[in-house]
Amino acid sequence: MLRIRTAVILVFLLTTGLFMVMAIYSVTAGQDSIQQSVGQSSQLLAQDMAKFIEFVVSIKIDDLFDYSKTDIVQNAVLKSNQEFSELEDMQDYITQQEDDWKSVSEETITPFMQSLISNELSEDIRNNFVEKINPKTGHSGFSELFLTNEYGVIISQSGKTTDYRQDDEDWWQKAKVDGISIGKTEYDESAKADVIPIGIKITDENGDFVGVLKAALSVRSIIREAEIFTQYDVTTQVNIVTEEGRLIYSTTPFRFNENISDQPFFDKLQSGQQGGFFVDEGEFKKELVTYSRPSNLQVIGEQDWIFVIKHQIGDVGIMSEMLTLRDNLILVSTVIIGIAVVLGILFSRSFSNQFKKITYLAKEIGKEHFDVKINLEDKGELGHLAKNMHDMGTSLKNAKKSKDEFVAMISHELKTPLTPIKIYTSALKNPKVYGELNQKQTEAVQGINFNAQRLEKLIEDLLDAQRLEMGRMMFKKDKFSVNEILDESVKSYQIICEEKNIEITSKMNEEIFIYSDKKRIQQVLDNLCRNSIDFVPKNTGIITIFAERKNDDVIFSVKDNGRGILKQAQEKLFTRFYQADTSLTRRHGGTGLGLAICKGIVEGLGGKIWLESTVGKGTNVYFTIPVGKSQ
Ligand SMILES: Nc1ncnc2c1ncn2[C@@H]1O[C@H](COP(=O)(O)OP(=O)(O)OP(=O)(O)O)[C@@H](O)[C@H]1O
Ligand SMILES: [Mg+2]
Repeated sequence: MLRIRTAVILVFLLTTGLFMVMAIYSVTAGQDSIQQSVGQSSQLLAQDMAKFIEFVVSIKIDDLFDYSKTDIVQNAVLKSNQEFSELEDMQDYITQQEDDWKSVSEETITPFMQSLISNELSEDIRNNFVEKINPKTGHSGFSELFLTNEYGVIISQSGKTTDYRQDDEDWWQKAKVDGISIGKTEYDESAKADVIPIGIKITDENGDFVGVLKAALSVRSIIREAEIFTQYDVTTQVNIVTEEGRLIYSTTPFRFNENISDQPFFDKLQSGQQGGFFVDEGEFKKELVTYSRPSNLQVIGEQDWIFVIKHQIGDVGIMSEMLTLRDNLILVSTVIIGIAVVLGILFSRSFSNQFKKITYLAKEIGKEHFDVKINLEDKGELGHLAKNMHDMGTSLKNAKKSKDEFVAMISHELKTPLTPIKIYTSALKNPKVYGELNQKQTEAVQGINFNAQRLEKLIEDLLDAQRLEMGRMMFKKDKFSVNEILDESVKSYQIICEEKNIEITSKMNEEIFIYSDKKRIQQVLDNLCRNSIDFVPKNTGIITIFAERKNDDVIFSVKDNGRGILKQAQEKLFTRFYQADTSLTRRHGGTGLGLAICKGIVEGLGGKIWLESTVGKGTNVYFTIPVGKSQ
C-alpha cells in the first residue's frame, strides 16, 4: 500500500498531468487543422496562379495567331512558297543549305543565315515580339521566334537557330496537323532561359496551310505577368519546379534553374500525388510546404509543373498564435503541476499529521490513558473519528472505574469471612478453648490456617493492586533504619531457605536512616525475595539483599542466581497479571501481581524500579526510595 502522502501527491500529479496532456493535445490538433486549412488554401492559390499563367500564355498564343494573319507574314510566306515551288530540285537545295548550316560552328553566322536574321520580316518579329518590352514585367515574353514556309525551312528568324529545316521536328508536324503545338518547358541555351516552345500553323486567307510560326515563350516572363493578377501574402513564397527538380520560378530571389531535386522534401513532391502539404523542419525555421500539380489546364497542361508554396509557420498569424498558445500552455501547466505538488505536499502533510494524532490517541487509550485529548483541525470524517475515540475513551474510563470499584468491593467482602476463620483456627490450636486435638486434627487445622493465609495474601494483593490503580493507596511515613528491614527480611525467609538449602544474605556498608513507609518497603522486599526463592535452583541458590545510599536516594536490590528472564518479557513484568513463563506458573504459583504492586508502591513513594536479568545467570531487581525529609 502506498503511504497516504505519496498517494495524494500522485493523484494531484496525475490529474494535472492529464490536464496538461489534454490541453497540449487540443492545441496540437487545432494546429494540425489550421495547417490543413492553410495547406488547402495554398493549393487553391497554386491553382489560381496556374490559371493566370495559362491565361497569359493563351493571350500570347492569340497574339501569335493574330500576327500570322498580318500582311507582312502572309506575303513573306506565300512569296517563299512560290519561290520554292519554282525550284527545279527543291529537296536538293534544302539538303544543301542544311548541310552548310550545320557545317559551321555554333557561334558562326553565315551570310545566308544573316540574310534570314536581317530581312524585313525578321526585323518585324524582333520589334513586335522578342524586343518588345512589357513595361510591367521588364521582359518581352518571347526569347525567340522564327517562321518556316510550307516546306519546313526557315524564312525569317529573330536570331540564329540550330537547324535550317524544321519539318523533321515533331512540333512542326503537330502544328501543321493540329494547328498548334505546345511543348514541354525546355532550357534554351541561346536565350539562357526556360522556355515553352509553341508552334503555330500559318494559314492563308482560304485557311490552307502555308507555313509554321515557332515561338519560344519565356517561362519567367509569363509567370511575372501572371503574378500581377495573383494576390498572395508577402510572407508566402511561391516556387515553380519542373518535374526533374529544376527551379524555374520563385517569388524570392533564387538561382534560376537551380536543381533542387536533392532537397529532402522533393521526394514528397514527386510522390505522384496531385497535391499535399507537410511541415519542413528546417535548420533555422519551420515551414509549411504545400505542393500542387494544377489540374484541368488545357494550354499549359503539358508542362507538369509543380507549384511549391511555402509559409514560415511563425509568419502565418494564427499558426504562430497557436505555437505561442502551446508554449504558454506548457508553461502554465508546468506552473500548475508545481503548485499541485506543493498543494499535494501541504494537503497530505496536514492529512497525515491528523492521522498521526489519531494514532497517538489510539495508543494512549490502549495504555489506559483515557483522559488524553487531541485537537484536530479537521471537522469532517477525521474530526468525527477523533470525537468518537474521545467518547470511547470516556466510556472505557467509566467501565474501568466501575470494574475497579467492583473488584475493590468484592475483595473487601472476601476478607470479611476470613477473619472468623483465622480466629476459629487459632482458637482450635489452643487446648484451653476447644480441648486437646489429636495429631490428624492438628494437621487439618494447620492446613486450614495455611490456606487461609494464602487466601488473605491473595486478597491483600488484589486490594493493593486495586488501591494503586485507583490512586487510593495511603502511605504512612516514619523514620526507620534500612538495616533493620533488611535483617528482618533475611530472618523471615531463613527457615524456607534452609528447607530449600539455599542461601539468603543481606549486605550493607553503613547504617542508613530513611523517612518513608516501612511496611510498604518491606512488602516490596518481600515480593522480590519470594520471587527469587521460587526461581533459584535448590541447593545452589544464592539470594543477596543489598542497600546503599546514593545522593538523596537509597538503592535497594535483590539479586539471585536463578533462571533469569527473557529480554522480551522483561518490560512487561511490571504490568498486572503478567507472568513470564506460564508453564512454570503452577510450580511457582502466584497471580502476576507482585511486581506490579512493587512498582506502584515504589513510584508512590517517589522512587523507580527496574531489573537486569540474564537467562541462565540470574536476576537483579533494583529500586530506589528517596531518603525523605528527616534527613
Ligand atoms: N527473580 C526472578 N527470576 C525469574 N523470573 C522472575 C523473577 N521475578 C519475577 N519473575 C517472573 O516474573 C513474573 C511476574 O512476577 P510477579 O511477582 O509480578 O508475579 P508472580 O510472582 O507470578 O505472582 P505473585 O507475585 O502475584 O504471587 C513471574 O511469574 C516470573 O515469571
Ligand atoms: Mg511474585
